[in-house]
Amino acid sequence: MKHYITVILLVALLTVLVGTGLSNMTLMPQLASIQGTFIDQLFHKHIWAISFLFSLIVGFMLYSIVVFRRREDDEYGDHFEGNTPLEIVWTILPLATVLYFAYLGAIALAETRRADPNAYNVTAVGQQWSWRFDYTDYGFSSDELRLPANRQTLILTKSLDVIHSFWIPEFRVKQDALPGEGMERELRLTPTKTGTFKVRCAELCGTRHAYMLADVIVMEPDAFDQWVQEKLQGPGGSAEERGAEWYQQFGCVACHTTDGSPLVGPSWKGLYGEEVTLADGSVVVADEAYLRESILDPQAKIVQGFENVVMPPIGQSMTPEQIDDVIAFIKSLGTGE
Ligand code: CUA
Repeated sequence: MKHYITVILLVALLTVLVGTGLSNMTLMPQLASIQGTFIDQLFHKHIWAISFLFSLIVGFMLYSIVVFRRREDDEYGDHFEGNTPLEIVWTILPLATVLYFAYLGAIALAETRRADPNAYNVTAVGQQWSWRFDYTDYGFSSDELRLPANRQTLILTKSLDVIHSFWIPEFRVKQDALPGEGMERELRLTPTKTGTFKVRCAELCGTRHAYMLADVIVMEPDAFDQWVQEKLQGPGGSAEERGAEWYQQFGCVACHTTDGSPLVGPSWKGLYGEEVTLADGSVVVADEAYLRESILDPQAKIVQGFENVVMPPIGQSMTPEQIDDVIAFIKSLGTGE
């Protein structure tokens, strides 16, 4: 009996030490959304559960190693086999714990999906290797995700090519972006802190997966409304200037440089009017018709050396005017020698 009391006290002490230690370590980035609070509450309970389990195992083990170590003149201990009450206890307790955490998990899941009827809508489109955000309530798109603080946004995720995953660590919640018609998935975000965060892609999706980031800017509602007004007016200026904006917004920048260095796709510098060798050995001139076709139907003519990359059909998300602007932007980057 004396041994049991000592070991229970030892386990309790270890649990408090390990649990307090883990709770005070900065294991997570700052919390910046309402949905995240439920995840963190769950995480907090898990921390205490694993602290207890760790202490239970290590406490018993250390105590036994020290107190019941073999001494010089010891004989072997009694042989015994099985202990029915103990086996019942260690079946029922873990089962009850797992069921309890499943219950907590179901509640947390329901809370993160709680719908606000006043939520406004953004479609997050993933493609290799960038994000685009379509503000469907307003009819414009952006390469950065701007959100008003303390208001719910319903994010619909989708993909133009392979599976990506939309994840803002400070908001805790995550959702896959799947390709295909009707495969959109929902994610609700209510940011609680203004500031700049990052959307990361949390699904390995190819060469530049690690660079598939976008800024998330949480703003005061007034500042957000002002930004919406600016976006509604569209980028002004010349066709080249607008083209440069679309180059960012539609994610062309993820694969095509404007300085001549090769990335995943051919650089746009000096591309216009250049003679391009295709995968089948034929040569075409990069004129307007060729550029337009490559934007609308990227697989029609594959440039030699780029056989292994599949460009998403981004042109199908663009208006004909936007494609004209992008071609004007490519022209402005110089012509082939
Ligand atoms: Cu998209 Cu990883």
